Amino acid sequence: VSRKEFLAWVASLPPDTRDAEVETHFGIRAPVPASSPPGDHLIGYHASGVAPILHALLEVPVTADDTVIDLGAGLGKVAFLARLLTSATVRGIEIQPTLVHRARAAATRLGLDVKFAQADARTAAIEDGSVFFLYVPFTGPVLEEVVRRVENVARRHAIVVCALGIDLDREANWLVRRQIDSFWLAIYDSVVPGVPPRSANRRSVLGDQAVTIACERRA
Ligand SMILES: C[S@@+](CC[C@H](N)C(=O)[O-])C[C@H]1O[C@@H](n2cnc3c(N)ncnc32)[C@H](O)[C@@H]1O
Repeated sequence: VSRKEFLAWVASLPPDTRDAEVETHFGIRAPVPASSPPGDHLIGYHASGVAPILHALLEVPVTADDTVIDLGAGLGKVAFLARLLTSATVRGIEIQPTLVHRARAAATRLGLDVKFAQADARTAAIEDGSVFFLYVPFTGPVLEEVVRRVENVARRHAIVVCALGIDLDREANWLVRRQIDSFWLAIYDSVVPGVPPRSANRRSVLGDQAVTIACERRA
């Protein structure tokens, strides 16, 4: 399906069942084996909502020349939506092998060119990322370590970090939070002396339907 058709279908779904229907469509709805949480300070799998993901894709905005990296990708919901809706290069990094196998199988079934690395975000290759997404994958010292790695990327090129359910304000003084109307989603731009900022001329390829979905609040 095209981006437009997919968005029209998502917009037609009632907000209360939308996430379940999208996950069923992607083939990632089935329950996850009880192996989570995967380690100290690591958080188990839970899928992000369609609305905040679209909000992030619009707000960044993610465009076809971006490389989006979902740190703690789970079954790939963020990765699939990002690829389908923006044509960006997308990679998921996920520590749990069973989730990675299922995410790769879903990508193949869907014909979506999304790569999943079975790796720990503390050591995985992330240097090419221009947009990072984190939905509470880890906390405490692990989050600090990964944020330091992301900072090293930002020392080479400007990046945007989308954080869902976690606050990075205290983690990183090199990240500047945007003023957006969302309780759960925070978007940060890297500001590193000597590194040119991301171009302000980017326009989202997502249309009005995506805006409507992104702005919807559950009752
Ligand atoms: C809350 S889920 C988010 C899933 C997905 N990003 C989404 O938004 O739908 C967090 C994921 O991070 C993974 N994770 C936790 N610690 C990790 C680490 N150190 N490296 C890579 N993945 C990790 C977990 O296995 C889990 O699947």
